[in-house]
Amino acid sequence: MCGIVGYTGARQASEVILDALEHLEYRGYDSSGIAIHEADGIHVEKARGRLQVLRERTDNGAKLPGNVGIGHTRWATHGEPSDRNAHPHASAGSRVVIVHNGIIENYLPLQEFLAAQGYTFHSQTDSEVVANLIDYHYHGDPVEAVRAALVQIKGSYALGVLFTDHPDLIVAARKNSPLVIGLGEGENYIASDIPAFLKYTRRIVRLRELDVAVVRANGLEIYDPFGNPVPYTEEHVEWDVSAAEKGGYEHFMLKEIYEQPRAIRDTISPRVVEGKIELGLQSLDEARIRSLKQIYITACGSSYHVGMVGRVFMERLLHIPVRVELASEFRYENPLVDADTLVLVISQSGETADTLAALREAKRLGAYTIGIVNVVGSAIATEADEVLYTWAGPEIAVATTKAYNTQLSVLYLMTMSLARMLGRMEDTTYAEYLQQLAQLPDLCEKLLQDTSHIQYLASLCFAKDDIFFIGRNLDYALALEGSLKLKEISYIHSESYAAGELKHGTISLIQPGSLVIALCTQKRLLERMISDIRTVKARGAMVIALAEENTPFIQDVADHVITLPAHADFVAPSLSVIPLQLFAYYVAALKGCDIDKPRNLAKSVTVE
Ligand code: G6P
Repeated sequence: MCGIVGYTGARQASEVILDALEHLEYRGYDSSGIAIHEADGIHVEKARGRLQVLRERTDNGAKLPGNVGIGHTRWATHGEPSDRNAHPHASAGSRVVIVHNGIIENYLPLQEFLAAQGYTFHSQTDSEVVANLIDYHYHGDPVEAVRAALVQIKGSYALGVLFTDHPDLIVAARKNSPLVIGLGEGENYIASDIPAFLKYTRRIVRLRELDVAVVRANGLEIYDPFGNPVPYTEEHVEWDVSAAEKGGYEHFMLKEIYEQPRAIRDTISPRVVEGKIELGLQSLDEARIRSLKQIYITACGSSYHVGMVGRVFMERLLHIPVRVELASEFRYENPLVDADTLVLVISQSGETADTLAALREAKRLGAYTIGIVNVVGSAIATEADEVLYTWAGPEIAVATTKAYNTQLSVLYLMTMSLARMLGRMEDTTYAEYLQQLAQLPDLCEKLLQDTSHIQYLASLCFAKDDIFFIGRNLDYALALEGSLKLKEISYIHSESYAAGELKHGTISLIQPGSLVIALCTQKRLLERMISDIRTVKARGAMVIALAEENTPFIQDVADHVITLPAHADFVAPSLSVIPLQLFAYYVAALKGCDIDKPRNLAKSVTVE
């Protein structure tokens, strides 16, 4: 949420910044703004609404011809979305102009302190205090001013700062909010995420927490919190621009749905060497595994749903109790976590504030932590004791698809590896499961070959006001994800229910014409699901069932059936989520929704 960019070089900064901001739109925003060094000082333009409004106001950047500047897309937290609250914010007197992502927790006392020094405030944001606080500490040295201000700030921030007196540089800093620096030839960038500048450079530097960077067209200096210069390491981004572009698809979400076979393959195959899973976790040895008394999985949103699938699979194979907790709840419930607990932290972005806080709490309690993360070098990846990367590549659409499926793949691999070390998986079962996992990408491809039936079903359903998802066991976890996908992007109200719970409440909501999507991928639970379908049909519901091809009786009881290719039970969640993603996508497309950037949602939620 919120996107920051900055550019310094020979080009017209406004053009680069507007383009870079467009590549960060996926993060979610409701207003945007830009500040550029011009001959007579720093000029600021901001606008509520889509970036197009800012483009119009600046004549596509032409009104701001300077070469150094910063830009921002804002996702409102303190103060409504408005021109006034949009960033950049200037200090009183306009010596300092900032863009900020994060939350300044102590902004009220700081505001009071600054007001007593004669500073005035024009917005309702917490961020404006940062501009004034830096100004207060500014006596000619930009780094000193930013450092001194940061000492007083409580909360999280990624910052880009311009100083009127120093038209050649941008100062950047971060704490608990992402910020990367891009290195070009005679030009440099800052951004909340790599896709912002990937079209210009693949050379990046990750700014460490609390460090302060001075970015000039021809140089980068980084200082630690004590003001000492520190060396930095340059990294090369392997994925190319096309990975962060739509490549002919109408939306990133559709492209990412179709990338799943590749993403799953990339996540699984490098980790299976000569018929054996190699996770490369240095500190997870047999002694540690044998001492484990319990496993906790903590995450938010779709990553939490992955955890729910993981729990079922892990308990079955490992015979160790597994608890799944929402990260936003985990830290407030005094979790019974100790050194004999493995805490798995799942996050696509690796930056979700609640998940990061849960990880820190788990570590504080002495647990051994493993992050399952997609974004390389992100906070969770760096802070967990070990990290298992999901090789999904950049995921741009707010609604996750390929990252979800690669997280599942990592959980399968990890569980099987642990089960093996604990001697709880026979050689033959292990080999069989590995073979089934190896076939999974091909099965996904098969499923994606013809989506016409799902498009047809979406056309029958897109005008519904409520859609119910029901399932049992693994299919219940799947129901949660199918329902979340649908509501995230189509804005249709949806409930997901453990099918056995229907009779304890939800059934009162079923009436003639209600749409129920019944997930029936678990063979041993088929009879029960058929009886659940009959129960809702008896109340007039229309039922779409999801089941493996040739599943008996399903065609007779359901109104419509989405079939999955024949597969092993344990990979069912990876396969069956795909039709649900497509269903949500086509329903949202028919409703004309903003699929990649649904209202009010952000891809990475960096506030708690
Ligand atoms: C946001 C996104 C969800 C995502 C959740 C967790 O709410 O809109 O799609 O599942 O964050 O994100 P993470 O990056 O931690 O997996």
